[in-house]
Amino acid sequence: MTNSYPVDDIEIVPLSPIFTDIVDLFSCLIPDLEDFVKDDALRQQDEAVNFTHLWISKESKILLGYVTLCNDSIGLHGKKKEEMKKIGISYRKLPALKICRMAVHKDFTRRGIGTLMTAFVMKIALKMNDVSGCRFITLEAKNLQDLDEKDKPIHFYRKNGFEILKERKPNPSYIPMYKDLKPIINERRKAKYEIV
Ligand SMILES: CC(C)(COP(=O)(O)OP(=O)(O)OC[C@H]1O[C@@H](n2cnc3c(N)ncnc32)[C@H](O)[C@@H]1OP(=O)(O)O)[C@@H](O)C(=O)NCCC(=O)NCCS
Repeated sequence: MTNSYPVDDIEIVPLSPIFTDIVDLFSCLIPDLEDFVKDDALRQQDEAVNFTHLWISKESKILLGYVTLCNDSIGLHGKKKEEMKKIGISYRKLPALKICRMAVHKDFTRRGIGTLMTAFVMKIALKMNDVSGCRFITLEAKNLQDLDEKDKPIHFYRKNGFEILKERKPNPSYIPMYKDLKPIINERRKAKYEIV
């Protein structure tokens, strides 16, 4: 990455009507993701369906990107089901936090903002884990056929530690992906016990 975006310039705020003018100027490489934040996100947030976090430049007040989250779960099947059964966990599903939508303004891609966003989501998932349990982060990566492999969202998510979720049916447009938080949860627990 040549020119990382300055982290100090980023302010993360919940989507609200006071940001309508800023949101209306958002421009993204995928039109659906541009339309969502302009037309649907606030209504869905008002209905408690999901929640959108805006990433705004403190200096220019440009909307650099957004990430929309909701609760999710992963059904246990096959190998995972067996693994969990062995340790005495026989639930049908395990809790997850889902990245419903995520987009960076087209003039600011490839400057590390998307990577920072996935770290932000992970922080939220770990906070959720501390109060109610959260094992995975899930998402559905857009399957953009006409792009080079390295330019596909799936490549970006792989770089950020996500894997294809084979238990969920892919469709031609979306590839289900997930990240297991257990290794990070273990590390944090170890560090906590070492401090105490
Ligand atoms: C995908 C997206 C969120 C990544 O955010 P970003 O700020 O550009 O990502 P970062 O700068 O942190 O990381 C970019 C790295 O991811 C990889 N990458 C893979 N697909 C990419 C893509 N479509 N756009 C940008 N980078 C991509 C690149 O290898 C790049 O690494 P490099 O800088 O070494 O070349 C952003 O580009 C975007 O909003 N794209 C359009 C909307 C979209 O595809 N959303 C995801 C839908 S599932």
